[in-house]
Amino acid sequence: MIYLDHNATTPPLPEVIEAVTDCLRDGWGNPSSKHGFGQRAKSALAAARAEVAALAGAQPAEVVFTSGATEANNQVLAGALSRPGVPPRVLLSAVEHAGFLKAAQRMRDFGVEVELLPVDGRGVLRLDALRAALERPAALLSVMAANNETGVLQPVVEVAAAARAAGVPLHVDATQQAGRLPLDFAGWGVDLMSMSAHKFGGPKGCGALVARKGLSWPALLPGQQERGRRGGTENMPGIAGFAVAARHARAAMQAEALRQGALRDALEDALRETLTGLTVFGEGAPRLPNTLFIAIAGQSADRLLGRLERERILAASGAACSSGGSEPSHVLAAMGVPPALAREAIRLSLGRDTDGEHLARVVHVLRSLQSETAVAAA
Ligand SMILES: Cc1ncc(COP(=O)(O)O)c(C=O)c1O
Repeated sequence: MIYLDHNATTPPLPEVIEAVTDCLRDGWGNPSSKHGFGQRAKSALAAARAEVAALAGAQPAEVVFTSGATEANNQVLAGALSRPGVPPRVLLSAVEHAGFLKAAQRMRDFGVEVELLPVDGRGVLRLDALRAALERPAALLSVMAANNETGVLQPVVEVAAAARAAGVPLHVDATQQAGRLPLDFAGWGVDLMSMSAHKFGGPKGCGALVARKGLSWPALLPGQQERGRRGGTENMPGIAGFAVAARHARAAMQAEALRQGALRDALEDALRETLTGLTVFGEGAPRLPNTLFIAIAGQSADRLLGRLERERILAASGAACSSGGSEPSHVLAAMGVPPALAREAIRLSLGRDTDGEHLARVVHVLRSLQSETAVAAA
């Protein structure tokens, strides 16, 4: 099987499986317990927090473990609006993760003004529109680091400068960038950041909200754990796996980013040479090194994905949550891509196990499919 859907999820690293299993078997103490067994879990929790902080470019005390990026994003949103005296207005880029946009849009039912900030044709946030939107007070600005569909990177440093100048708290959803390209929470000067372990070899159901030291942000799940910032007994097996994945991601990141970037570029070049009517979404913008989001004129995504899967190649039609549905991607719509072309979009996202042979196979299958279509039409 050739797995090219790493933006949906990644296979857990063997070391992660081992850490999760060890924790379940031998380290199942509750970090809040005062006895030795609990204290051992507490030490493991502190060590894991330091690993995740190192990946985030943050301090350990700034890391709050959550059940994943969805929860972290919801904590950001709910917290923003429950801070005293804030204006009921939030700003999000129009290409945020679908689940996050849904959560924000629900706020409209409670009288919150939710403004979606436009992107250009490449999928990059329009800084002129951002600056105009920041002229009015807002409770929150949220802009993702890297898009899950296109892989397009947003200008986080410029966004942070604009947010700071306007005095609006900035949240960055770094779920797709974490483990693939460096994160610099402190250097970027953002207030809040979301991450998820399963996007870089860790277990599902475990993530983090990174919250700037000194920032008071109400908990979504009140309780005593995580210094009052997230209640509920900590998911220690998940956290142990998250930490190991973070350590491995940091060690391998530079080499993997170069390797996967070269493979992705070679794949893109090969597809351009062999196929007619190829569109590369996000072309010309800085992108994650592992992501290629394309369309082949006249080939629906469903047809392409079906054929690829019959050839034992797994890919996606954009966001995992919208695959299978016939709604065209909101990311492509925001980029001004017509719905008919958006329905042809497929995402190939590479990972550590991807090699040149896998991609040669993809080129071969897509080329064969296009020639068969041409013959059938003749
Ligand atoms: C950009 C982005 N944000 C949030 C999420 C949700 O993450 P989780 O699966 O940890 O809830 C995803 C996962 O698809 C994502 O790609």
